[in-house]
Amino acid sequence: MAILVTGGAGYIGSHTCVELLERGEEVVVLDNFSNSKPEVIENIMKITGKQFKVYNGDILNKEDVLKVFSENDINEVIHFAGLKAVGESMENPLKYYQNNVVGSLILVEVMQQHGCNKIVFSSSATVYGAPEKVPVSEEFPLDPENVYGRTKYMVERILEDLAMADKNFSVALLRYFNPVGAHKSGLIGEDPEGTPNNLMPYIVGVASEKFECLRVFGDDYETRDGTGVRDYLHVVDLADAHLKALDKIRGENGTKIYNLGTGKSVSVLELIKAFEKSNNIKINYVVTSRRPGDIAECWASPKKAKEELGWSADKTVDEMCRDSWNYAKRKIGDK
Ligand code: NAD
Ligand code: UD1
Repeated sequence: MAILVTGGAGYIGSHTCVELLERGEEVVVLDNFSNSKPEVIENIMKITGKQFKVYNGDILNKEDVLKVFSENDINEVIHFAGLKAVGESMENPLKYYQNNVVGSLILVEVMQQHGCNKIVFSSSATVYGAPEKVPVSEEFPLDPENVYGRTKYMVERILEDLAMADKNFSVALLRYFNPVGAHKSGLIGEDPEGTPNNLMPYIVGVASEKFECLRVFGDDYETRDGTGVRDYLHVVDLADAHLKALDKIRGENGTKIYNLGTGKSVSVLELIKAFEKSNNIKINYVVTSRRPGDIAECWASPKKAKEELGWSADKTVDEMCRDSWNYAKRKIGDK
């Protein structure tokens, strides 16, 4: 019996594969490598000393998905495969609806055909849009403000409806806040192509002299230092949450929803300072205007995940900064 990890070569998927393999689970990966490299797979095997099957295929291609299910005894799916660039999703909405929504539909159709009825889905805090207050808990109204967020919202509803119609189905919707950091080995981590959209990869880009200066998008928010406040969590803690979510849905049917964050708020300037201190590197920055669509504050109430999954994200901001840089340094050394 194996767990299918779609998008298992990606940033969060690769860290989750490591945790699954280290727990002794059998893993099968399906990835089209549109945003990841095959060397990630070798590095997962290097870290864990374990082999597993990898399919270079697309969730949009039903034949690819059917092949995985017919050649393996898949009884659970962790579904990471998706596109995630907010800006691109606004410029090319159909690409996002197609890949994220249609791709997920094809995947669950094949699951149903094969009697596989357990799925953990990568959702995002972006489904809340601009929350009325913080911390954000799971029953807050959903109001995604960008196409990417709307694809997550739609897939959430599709899975929820499926679990309502088919009482054997169990679904965990995991709403991630801001994953950062990397595996302590420095062998896997976040490796965005081109100019990163997110804060930590950009800080790392400045540290490695790829970019001269970080632009801080606004210091006139109503926050403690005027810059945006978020909930950064270590990707290894996030990976661990997937194992806990699997355990949960192994025992109970229906839909479970969890916010995954630390519950601690960190501003842009605080993250810059933490990075500088933990890595002893100066990060040049300049304050510019706000980024359209940004919100002042968004951080999680991790209470439900703690109570129902027994999970909490305990790694510190310093560890997140150190591990992000450790991974980047190794990549620079490789080049
Ligand atoms: P990622 O891009 O590193 O990983 C996604 C993987 O899916 C990649 O390896 C990519 O090649 C693969 N993929 C994409 N489309 C595919 C398709 N049609 N068929 C097969 N494989 C496909 O992204 P990530 O940061 O690891 O995110 C994983 C999931 O978590 C995504 O669904 C993302 O939307 C969600 N998420 C990420 C964040 C974040 O900040 N990283 C936050 C919230 C939610
Ligand atoms: C962004 C996405 C969100 C997605 C999340 C994780 C937008 C509007 N939102 O959220 O949908 O779920 O990433 O992938 O894109 N910042 C800078 N300079 C930079 C980059 C960021 O100052 O170069 C600031 C931002 O203004 C924000 C904070 O850093 O205050 C965090 O930004 P980011 O890492 O992009 O995450 P989110 O804004 O939470």
